Amino acid sequence: MEREAVLVGIDVGTSKICALIGEVSRDGSLTIVGKGVVPASGLRKAVVVNIDQTVRSIAGSVDHAERLSGYQIDRAFVGVGGQNVESQNSRGAVAVSGHTREVTREDVERALEVARAVTIPSNREVLHVLPRGFIVDGQEGVKDPLGMSAIRLEIETHIVTASATAVRNLAKCVQAANVKIDELVANSLASAETVLSDTERDLGVALADIGAGTIDLALFMDGSPYKTAVLPVGGNNVTNDVAIGLKTSLQVAEELKIQHGSCDLSTVADDEVISVSQLGEAAGRTVHRVDVCRIIEARMRETFEMLAAEMRASGDGVLPAGLVLTGGAAQLAGAAALGREVLNMPVRVAGPVGIGGLTDNIMNPAYSTAIGLLYWGARGLESSEYGPLPPAPMGGLLGKFRDAARNLFPLPPEGPRR
Ligand SMILES: Nc1ncnc2c1ncn2[C@@H]1O[C@H](COP(=O)(O)OP(=O)(O)OP(=O)(O)O)[C@@H](O)[C@H]1O
Ligand SMILES: [Mg+2]
Repeated sequence: MEREAVLVGIDVGTSKICALIGEVSRDGSLTIVGKGVVPASGLRKAVVVNIDQTVRSIAGSVDHAERLSGYQIDRAFVGVGGQNVESQNSRGAVAVSGHTREVTREDVERALEVARAVTIPSNREVLHVLPRGFIVDGQEGVKDPLGMSAIRLEIETHIVTASATAVRNLAKCVQAANVKIDELVANSLASAETVLSDTERDLGVALADIGAGTIDLALFMDGSPYKTAVLPVGGNNVTNDVAIGLKTSLQVAEELKIQHGSCDLSTVADDEVISVSQLGEAAGRTVHRVDVCRIIEARMRETFEMLAAEMRASGDGVLPAGLVLTGGAAQLAGAAALGREVLNMPVRVAGPVGIGGLTDNIMNPAYSTAIGLLYWGARGLESSEYGPLPPAPMGGLLGKFRDAARNLFPLPPEGPRR
């Protein structure tokens, strides 16, 4: 296997920080050669609220990954989450230049510039300007207009933004941990790289990465995202409810949830009893499992209803491929069944598959974002046959161009990307 590049992804989550070093080979396969996972402190609902603590956590995860791999981490793709992540769609149109009237890369870049010139408030940072498709002389649905004869070129883009201060604080923490930023990537778009197939994206699909404090959501149609958002709920809310409902500590509630929880009440017998003292509480106490699960089910039902409302609000897009759940909290037993019931669409739970190397403990849905960051980076390499693209300075114009350019050109024929 020929090694193509070594990439680093850092997922700065509410519950854990995960740094992964991956070798990407020419055929697109990924081998993890370094990993560091440390409990996060300093974040609230995926937003940095304490710089020192976050820097320490990031530095800890980077240090672990470096020791394991023997590499020194210089730069990384970094995930961005938090409710401040939002999106909008924008079009840009230009007259095709040049006497041949054939669409060139320069025309596409000008159209992109027009699309991204939409008024974005100065307190927002643009994370992505992703081309969704082109309209060439009124003809919709063009994926690659290069070389087409045309007079007018129109581009449809998906623009993802985040709070400038939240992004600045995150970047500050990463840089203080001695890591430069290759690119800031919305968590949901990173996770999508790990768990969605190209067919699902083409058909129309929703991805929800349910973490500890937030849900990273992305909706896809015709191969591209048309909505990116973050909901401020996650597995922590479920644990809190269990702790309050059963008057126990967060630690015990978390254990109850993970070991005995389910949101599919049809699978829970009425008379099943759990000894809480085995989980570290004072001796003798027991709870009915069905009581635990009722609390969990109620919160998860509400969560799926929030997702449904968010999906409805994003237009009439039908999503034939349904909803794909990932993130640590998607592992809750019965989550897919409840999701199908509430949303009335296909729902599956997915995590990383088909990766080589140091995959112990990371082949589960909690690591979709971290692994997806490596795939995202690898996708950038694939487009480099169209000429070297400049490295992306954080938040700079080139960053967005590189981002745009990467997604502009069709990938090589669909191969085993993962
Ligand atoms: N087996 C399991 N069953 C149910 N829930 C689980 C399980 N394992 C982990 N979780 C939950 O997953 C959540 C952590 O998920 P994850 O690691 O994806 O979050 P994060 O990325 O740190 O947070 P965020 O994305 O919100 O910033 C916790 O709430 C935890 O209780
Ligand atoms: Mg997460």
